Amino acid sequence: MKGIILAGGSGSRLYPITKVYSKQLAVIYDKPLIYYPLSVLMLAGIKEVLIISNEETIPHYQKLFDDGSHLGMKIEYKLQTAPRGIAESFILGDEFIGNDDVCLILGDNIFFGELTFFYDSVKNFSKGAKIFGYRVTDPERYGIVQFDKTGTVLSIEEKPKNPKSDYAVPGLYIYDNSVIEISKNLKPSARGELEITDVNNEYLKIKELKVETIGRGVAWLDTGTPAALLQASNFFGVIEERQGLKVACIEEIAFNKGFISTEQFRTVLDNMPNSMYKNYLEKVYSDFIDN
Ligand code: DAU
Repeated sequence: MKGIILAGGSGSRLYPITKVYSKQLAVIYDKPLIYYPLSVLMLAGIKEVLIISNEETIPHYQKLFDDGSHLGMKIEYKLQTAPRGIAESFILGDEFIGNDDVCLILGDNIFFGELTFFYDSVKNFSKGAKIFGYRVTDPERYGIVQFDKTGTVLSIEEKPKNPKSDYAVPGLYIYDNSVIEISKNLKPSARGELEITDVNNEYLKIKELKVETIGRGVAWLDTGTPAALLQASNFFGVIEERQGLKVACIEEIAFNKGFISTEQFRTVLDNMPNSMYKNYLEKVYSDFIDN
């Protein structure tokens, strides 16, 4: 399973935060937003990741993650010259995906809590498409799943004016290799984008779409407005302060998942500037050595 993070876009709604680079570099409490989706892929055991973004932002991601080898990963970058739609990820990622399956996460989507629904979906994935449904109060802003009385999926509608359910499709999708061909055959929507919802409806048409609803133990946070960014920062500030554990700390995850050895973890620490973030990781390291 390969991973793609789509992390570009115009971000104009968050201007001037997004005047210099795209929103996935905005700060959520103590780290850039993109750390959160990257950590979700890592926790599912995905080591090969393509980050797709615009010309201004890619150099910043390269500075953050380099080629990923210090995390025991392989991280590549691909330019999207204009925001032509989420499904363009699979056309731009064609070579990177090769003959494999792929999981796409939107670079502005934050998940927190019991994520076994996702880890199990990656582990047990065989073919078709697997997406999720999450209950929201503002369904007109998302891709929305319509179910019949037996729970069978009837349709997915993108930002419907009259939503047929409260179940939004979060920006976390798992597809088999045919997603590349499906995306290449899509026509741009009325707003001129290759829609991820059209990809999902193609899989629905051939009866290969699975939708799993996510329970209330999972937080899927919005990052679409300055208020939402502040709420997300406060959310993780409260959790990290209370537990003394960091969320989305990619070096810690790489070590705990066995992506890197103790020696490699030590080298990562030695190359990190003195900071509260480093102090935290030093504690993770010494707790491991002492036990
Ligand atoms: O967040 C989940 C929702 O994401 C889904 O429920 C919708 O079905 C899906 O269409 C999408 O809706 P959004 O309105 O949130 O999509 P948006 O255009 O804001 O793009 C999501 C992120 O992807 C955003 O951070 C920018 C980035 N992006 C988007 C497009 C269209 C790109 O990097 N390139 C693009 O071409």
